[in-house]
Amino acid sequence: MKIAVLGGGKIGEAVARNVAASPRVSNVIVTRRNPKSIKRLESKKIQVTSDNRRAAGRSDVIILAVKAGDAKQLLSEVKSQASGKLVISLMAAVSIRRLESALPGSRLVRTMPNIAATIGQAITAYSFGSKLRPEDVETTKFILGCFGESIEVPENLMNAVTALSGSGPAYIAMVIESLVSAGLMVGLPRELALKLATKTLTGTANMLNQHGIHPAELRDSVTTPAGTTIAGIYELEKGSLRTSIMNAVEAATKAAERVAKRFEEEPT
Ligand SMILES: NC(=O)c1ccc[n+]([C@@H]2O[C@H](COP(=O)([O-])OP(=O)(O)OC[C@H]3O[C@@H](n4cnc5c(N)ncnc54)[C@H](OP(=O)(O)O)[C@@H]3O)[C@@H](O)[C@H]2O)c1
Repeated sequence: MKIAVLGGGKIGEAVARNVAASPRVSNVIVTRRNPKSIKRLESKKIQVTSDNRRAAGRSDVIILAVKAGDAKQLLSEVKSQASGKLVISLMAAVSIRRLESALPGSRLVRTMPNIAATIGQAITAYSFGSKLRPEDVETTKFILGCFGESIEVPENLMNAVTALSGSGPAYIAMVIESLVSAGLMVGLPRELALKLATKTLTGTANMLNQHGIHPAELRDSVTTPAGTTIAGIYELEKGSLRTSIMNAVEAATKAAERVAKRFEEEPT
């Protein structure tokens, strides 16, 4: 399978590297207007170019990884080369309706990964367009599987998904940063605090995933009467941790909706 990744930025590069690692993929062409900055990606399987048309024309599947603001120009550039092909968009805020009207001959999938794609551990939500063939479903799952897990969602949830798991690594990084600062306050060396914070986060998340239990059940199981954990929880409740996170995801969803609306209103 030959794949074009149009827009070799942060997420495009992560996706390109991981799909190229699959034996099912024979060739990956990554584009940027300034391809020099990703020359380091070049290998036996990965080529780098600024020629979107050539990249799209030579590939079986096209992945769109530019910012929404660059989408209109890119879509019109590759319209004919993308015709008859499966096109997977990673772009926030650009709807399937919009993608299908810009690429009328293509079969579209809209997705929202996150930056954990870099290490093959993204969670990617996807919604299928109206023209997919049965084999496109398998191809999509295979490609998304190269850089993590994937889950199908109705398209109307995409802005909320963007706000939770698309932006989520930034929130989690802040939580870890806070734990490191807290560790410093109580006398832990920085490196040790970072190790403890990151391993506690991944261990807790893995346990929830593997045991399928509710987070509240896990919290209760480690909270003893008059113990250390309840003293910490009391302060987190006073600081409105939950409300802050709920407000953050709600604000990010509204921001995603605003951007999406702007693109919907633009003439094609
Ligand atoms: N980063 C994330 O965590 C994340 C997660 C989920 C989804 N996304 C989505 O992925 C998309 C890219 O995000 P990003 O964070 O990777 O942004 P980014 O780092 O800015 O990457 C976008 C890349 O697109 C290239 N580009 C722009 N116009 C182009 C064109 N006409 N032809 C070829 N390449 C072009 C830019 O390079 P040049 O300027 O050199 O052309 C840039 O490197 C966005 O739509 C975003 O919503 C990102």
